[in-house]
Amino acid sequence: MTLAPIRVGIVGLGQIARAAHLDACARAADVELAAICDRAPDLLADARRRYPDAVPYAEYDAMLGDPSVDAVIVATADQFHVALAARALGAGKHVFVEKPMGVAVEECEELRSRAVACGQVLQVGFMKRFDPAIQFGSDFIVRELGTILAMRAWYCDSTFRYTMTDNLQPPPLVSAAALRPDGDPKAKRSTYYLLAHGSHLVDTARYLAGEIEAVRARRLVHGDAHCWFVETRMASGALGHLELTVPLRGDFEEGFRIYGEHGSVFGRVYLPWFHRASEVECFSARDGVYRRPLGADAHTYRRQIEGFAGAICGSPGVGADADDGVANIRALTAIARSVESDGWVEVSAVTGGP
Ligand SMILES: NC(=O)c1ccc[n+]([C@@H]2O[C@H](COP(=O)([O-])OP(=O)(O)OC[C@H]3O[C@@H](n4cnc5c(N)ncnc54)[C@H](O)[C@@H]3O)[C@@H](O)[C@H]2O)c1
Repeated sequence: MTLAPIRVGIVGLGQIARAAHLDACARAADVELAAICDRAPDLLADARRRYPDAVPYAEYDAMLGDPSVDAVIVATADQFHVALAARALGAGKHVFVEKPMGVAVEECEELRSRAVACGQVLQVGFMKRFDPAIQFGSDFIVRELGTILAMRAWYCDSTFRYTMTDNLQPPPLVSAAALRPDGDPKAKRSTYYLLAHGSHLVDTARYLAGEIEAVRARRLVHGDAHCWFVETRMASGALGHLELTVPLRGDFEEGFRIYGEHGSVFGRVYLPWFHRASEVECFSARDGVYRRPLGADAHTYRRQIEGFAGAICGSPGVGADADDGVANIRALTAIARSVESDGWVEVSAVTGGP
């Protein structure tokens, strides 16, 4: 528990802020939603109506100049993440930046160096780490599993995702005045899917099974469907396999299997908007018993902001840090390079972005 709440400002009041961060900050213990910022007047006005106690800013630098703001959530398009996060660090704020940390290895490494140099907290929005059942699985792996033999993880986004989630989120508010990156980064679907969805897949795999050293990836594109099969070589020596399919002609399907020396872990992950913990089953060969957590609080977006506030107060917790952000963009870039070269790519050797 902190003595005073961490006062948070959000830059970017688009879909993820409207659906997750505003509500998460309002609910979070030890956090106060102090300021909101967007260049789009309609988005700012809408957030202001819903959160009248937060100070509204049209200009980011004005929000950064507000001494009562301790920390900033960067919830803008991926291409703006690094520049906005760097400015916040420069203004003495702690930073929570949405995933992915950035769009290229070099800019993410540069941001990591800045965070290390100034000593402020920088976390990246991989909220699945705050799913209590995935945390249970992670603890079980560390405690019980022994050597990891193999890891499989998959993320298949459903054709029907928005039909399923629209009713769980505030009605979309698309602003013509929203600040967007040049061109249309989403038009390059393979890159967009890797950054948007592949980043979650890679983070969950790393969180549960450790560092990915090298990848060999194949990709099939058929109409609007993109499918990646990725062999991974894990630093632990384990075999690994990642699958990313977007969109799947079927239900949303995300999950993982970890096989270990003394047991195994299986997880089925739900769309985060249901606030439903994953189904995770952990089997221990030591006592021949399956363990399956149930009933834990699974508001992952709120829990990750509480984790961020905890990190600012000195409890690092499980939140993804700058090293995780860099490792993530490296792995995604390696997957893209491997598709191009049709061979193994060392994660440590890549440059540029996916
Ligand atoms: N963790 C998750 O589950 C999850 C889900 C969806 C999106 N995301 C991530 O969230 C981020 C935002 O996605 P989105 O769909 O909400 O984007 P969006 O385009 O809907 O909203 C971004 C907003 O940022 C504002 N903005 C940009 N630069 C600004 C600046 N300098 N000053 C003030 N306002 C500025 C824009 O005007 C826009 O309204 C992306 O990085 C995305 O990958 C994460």
